[in-house]
Amino acid sequence: MNIFRNSGSENLIFKDESVFNADYSPEEINGREKEIREMATAFKTVERKTRIPSMILNGPPGTGKTCCTRYVLKQLQEYTQRAIIIYINCWQNGTRHSILTRILEGIDPLTPQSGMTADRIIDKIGTVLKNSKKSAIVVLDEADALMQNNEHVVFYDLLRASETIGTEISVISITNNPEFVIALDKRIRSSMAQMSIKFNPYSPEEMKSILTERANLGIHTSAYDEDVIGKCAAFAAKNGGDARIGITLLWLSGREAEAKNAEKITTDYVEAAKQHIATVIGDTRQNQSDQSGLEKRILEILVKGELESTEIYEKLGIAERTGRRHLEKMESAGIIESRRAEEKRGNVRIFRIKKK
Ligand SMILES: Nc1ncnc2c1ncn2[C@@H]1O[C@H](COP(=O)(O)OP(=O)(O)O)[C@@H](O)[C@H]1O
Ligand SMILES: [Mg+2]
Repeated sequence: MNIFRNSGSENLIFKDESVFNADYSPEEINGREKEIREMATAFKTVERKTRIPSMILNGPPGTGKTCCTRYVLKQLQEYTQRAIIIYINCWQNGTRHSILTRILEGIDPLTPQSGMTADRIIDKIGTVLKNSKKSAIVVLDEADALMQNNEHVVFYDLLRASETIGTEISVISITNNPEFVIALDKRIRSSMAQMSIKFNPYSPEEMKSILTERANLGIHTSAYDEDVIGKCAAFAAKNGGDARIGITLLWLSGREAEAKNAEKITTDYVEAAKQHIATVIGDTRQNQSDQSGLEKRILEILVKGELESTEIYEKLGIAERTGRRHLEKMESAGIIESRRAEEKRGNVRIFRIKKK
């Protein structure tokens, strides 16, 4: 018999596993109606050619800050051409210069960027925006990375650009750090935080509706039942009301069932998957120095399989020095393990989640 025949071209559990990817954007968002409405009302001012307030979105990891923002801005984009929307992840673009470059690219893709000084980029942003007669909305996701890198001068740059060109740039800062506003310099605090929206942990009920929706899209109807959703929802609700944990647990439970060639995810598989991530989540949650969630993100990408250290830095867009420090810490805490990549020169190591 052909060896590929029975090796799973037909997936018994997942009908679309991609909905469990970290970068999947849900089309339906439950449990965040109030937050979405608040944002939408603020952005609606773009129609009246008045200022769109700058705002700070704050809340613990996995509470929907990023996906709600993307959802609202996508709809805004479909509704009106008056706003230029630029989304920037500050972990991936952690310097003043790269933020400004991304903004200029966003408002004028044709401008050659290379070799321009920050001041020159700011001027250019001003001129282009003024000529376009459009408003700019700049989302700075994981904005605390700029504080940590000591690059928050870019907030002043954006305010300054607004002042010199007369049309405001609205900045949406997204952060896990409740101290973010306080850390902002007094002189810019009121401009940066004209509005502030708090995202709270999801309740078990909200988590259930999120997971039901996701399971509907990703898992065959016959391959799970409500117990499984309930168990995953309860676990995630207990662990910070973090939807990312719930979705990852549901996905890993499916993977466990799949590995056993089962036709259905049972609560036993959820238990097995839980064992796999419980210690990991517990360890990082108590970890105060991981406020930015970097260690959790390392785990998220390692869940999919082992990776070389250099690939980890690349995927997360972080400096080698920062990455190495976190990896070493996680390894000594027994969360991950590593070996030397024999075939590579230098000190490249291969990491994976520690097998218990
Ligand atoms: N209300 C929701 N409905 C559907 N999926 C959600 C919801 N909230 C969060 N998610 C999903 O959970 C994960 C984490 O959400 P995210 O917006 O990235 O959280 P945050 O930015 O607050 O850390 C993402 O995969 C996202 O798609
Ligand atoms: Mg986010």
